[in-house]
Amino acid sequence: MLSIDKQDDTYLYRQVIDLIGENIDTGTLRPGDRLPSLRKMSQSAGVSIPTVRQAYIELERQRRIESRPQSGFYVRHRAINPIVSPAPSSDGQPVCLNCRPLMERVYEGINNPNLVPLGIANPCMAKPAAKNLHRSMKRIMSRAEERSLGYASTLGEPSLRRQIAYHYLDTAGVQAQPDHIAITNGGQEALLIALSAVASTGDVIAVETPTYHGMLELIDGLGMLAVEVETCPEEGVVLDELRRTLEAYPVKACMFSTTLSNPLGVTMPERDRRRLVQILEEFDTVLIEDDVYGDLRFDGYRPIPAQFLGDHARIITCGSFSKTAAPGYRVGWAYSPHFIEDIRRLKRAFSCSSGFLQQLTLADFLASGDYARHLKMLRPELQRNAERMAALIGEHFPSETRTSKPVGGSVLWLELPENVNAEELFDDAIAAGISVAPGQIFSPANRYDNFVRLSFGHPWSDKTDDAVRWLGRRVSELAKA
Ligand SMILES: Cc1ncc(COP(=O)(O)O)c(C=O)c1O
Repeated sequence: MLSIDKQDDTYLYRQVIDLIGENIDTGTLRPGDRLPSLRKMSQSAGVSIPTVRQAYIELERQRRIESRPQSGFYVRHRAINPIVSPAPSSDGQPVCLNCRPLMERVYEGINNPNLVPLGIANPCMAKPAAKNLHRSMKRIMSRAEERSLGYASTLGEPSLRRQIAYHYLDTAGVQAQPDHIAITNGGQEALLIALSAVASTGDVIAVETPTYHGMLELIDGLGMLAVEVETCPEEGVVLDELRRTLEAYPVKACMFSTTLSNPLGVTMPERDRRRLVQILEEFDTVLIEDDVYGDLRFDGYRPIPAQFLGDHARIITCGSFSKTAAPGYRVGWAYSPHFIEDIRRLKRAFSCSSGFLQQLTLADFLASGDYARHLKMLRPELQRNAERMAALIGEHFPSETRTSKPVGGSVLWLELPENVNAEELFDDAIAAGISVAPGQIFSPANRYDNFVRLSFGHPWSDKTDDAVRWLGRRVSELAKA
């Protein structure tokens, strides 16, 4: 093990470079890890701050580390993977879901606690907020023990709806009316209510491709048809393609994640979100926007939901605390000034109201400032995990493998060599104790045969390293077969 030796003739800054380099080479410092601050390193190595600075600048010149404004120095990715290809344009008709049996098996994998969980998008578990949520729940139980056991109102606890409206103001600078928010059982029920409010059996719903499989299951479950709209891996929905789809088919609603999508992890640029709203107004088509990841951009920028970007009233925004705080609480919301009465009626019909104790707890969690502080810690943790996973993929997967470049969230979308079948990889991975999400379930027409989605939304461990390495080896074998 290297250490700084002041008797040695080698310049001290060179010794610091070797020390850091050795730590990177042996994997003690991994891509995405933050280096000790200049002051800390100077104290621990017993050298001056200018010496450490000189070493870090040289390491940066060698492209082994990078500086990030206001944050410090970080170990760089060694491998830069090429970005996934744009999703091919959909020349097919609207279709029903074509992969139900595979979807069942994927959920079996997701629900199996013994597997390394690379198949489930569960970002908040990368840095659980358990302690603070527990403290909020204890406060609620001591203040409102009996009340919290009762029914919440149909639209949900007013203090929580106020906090959600405040959060939109505080983060995106927009005004949401608490009275136009309905608390739901997670984002999934918000999507169900939204879809039921605006479309019925046989209607055509446009989705981005690839898209979140839960949306496809909903569309299928309600007897509707999905038509896919091409996306670009860096900017999301391709608007000219959307226009063509709207001209070709009687689309009742579009279900898009414009702020941060799953599985691509892209944010549509604001000018495109504004144009999207104009196009949908022109065609009088409803937008159901899935905003459950909107708070999870790595850079902390909070994209403004399309709801607030124009005059089109026929928009329902669906949010959730599942991705940011506690999926088990099952608390999400639907926001729409225009559709709120339909939403209220459907919420009452489907589930009366949502869990009261969880709503009160989350209201306290937000009001105390703990939620905002938690998001501040969660985002960089997710970014570090994303970088680690991308670097491992670069090292261990075949060189033709391409990956998405997510700007937030907790998943990477991988394009594997063309002859690798993701369903086969999924089966092999399950047998090896790893869950993954095969590409086929992200398209109603099963078009992503050689794609897979990997999650980095859990505390990173040696098991994660081993699982990604194993997948890389298996993909290489399948590619050669
Ligand atoms: C894009 C997207 N929307 C909605 C949901 C559902 O969220 P919830 O767990 O709050 O129901 C998920 C969950 O994976 C998701 O990825």
